[in-house]
Amino acid sequence: MKRRTFIRLCAATAGAASAQAFAASDARPRRYARSRLELAGGRPLRASQIPVDRNLIFHYPYAATPCFLLNLGRPLSTPAELKTAAAQSYRWPGGVGPNRSIVAYSAICAHQLAYPTREISFISYRTEKGAQNRFANVIHCCSEHSQYDPARGARVVAGPAPQPLAAILLEYDAREDMLTAVGTLGGELFNAFFTKYAFKLSMERGNAARDGVGATTRVVEMNDYCRQQVRC
Ligand code: FES
Repeated sequence: MKRRTFIRLCAATAGAASAQAFAASDARPRRYARSRLELAGGRPLRASQIPVDRNLIFHYPYAATPCFLLNLGRPLSTPAELKTAAAQSYRWPGGVGPNRSIVAYSAICAHQLAYPTREISFISYRTEKGAQNRFANVIHCCSEHSQYDPARGARVVAGPAPQPLAAILLEYDAREDMLTAVGTLGGELFNAFFTKYAFKLSMERGNAARDGVGATTRVVEMNDYCRQQVRC
């Protein structure tokens, strides 16, 4: 899909959907079904072997809602005080894993709900500065250049997004060196996402459009998940 077409689609549906979504944003931690993160073929994903600064994608809490899994390569032990667009406060607790360097966030942009698909992604974690991103090490949405700091709970550092990306709560089992997704924290936008993309998702998934993930969810590199990544 061309960028201009994508933006038109965004703009056409975003107004009503966003207003509805942000009014409903809720900062409390929400528990969903537990889902262990694993690699293709059911191979275990060892937290200590997650590469640093790579875009990894998994789906949670729904099979259609993508998330970023990032190892930022340094301990993230300082909580961040954040607010949703509806001014609800919450505390992001920091990273998990053997070095507390691993974080996870919903990959649905809090501005107009751009998200990585199999075909194209406008949003990704970027380590380098560029023409449009003044900051290194941010999650950058190239649609309208919202940028989020994954080391501080995905707070907004630039662009029009009205709230941080929702955090995905991970539990770390040190004995097994494995991660399990257990819920979300912050202003999740799943209802708005399913409303906005209802037709697309029903074409792709039929009646399973809103199914939850199972007891396990697969982690893949963004490069393997998505055919075209827009850089800006
Ligand atoms: S959808 Fe507008 S900045 Fe992401």
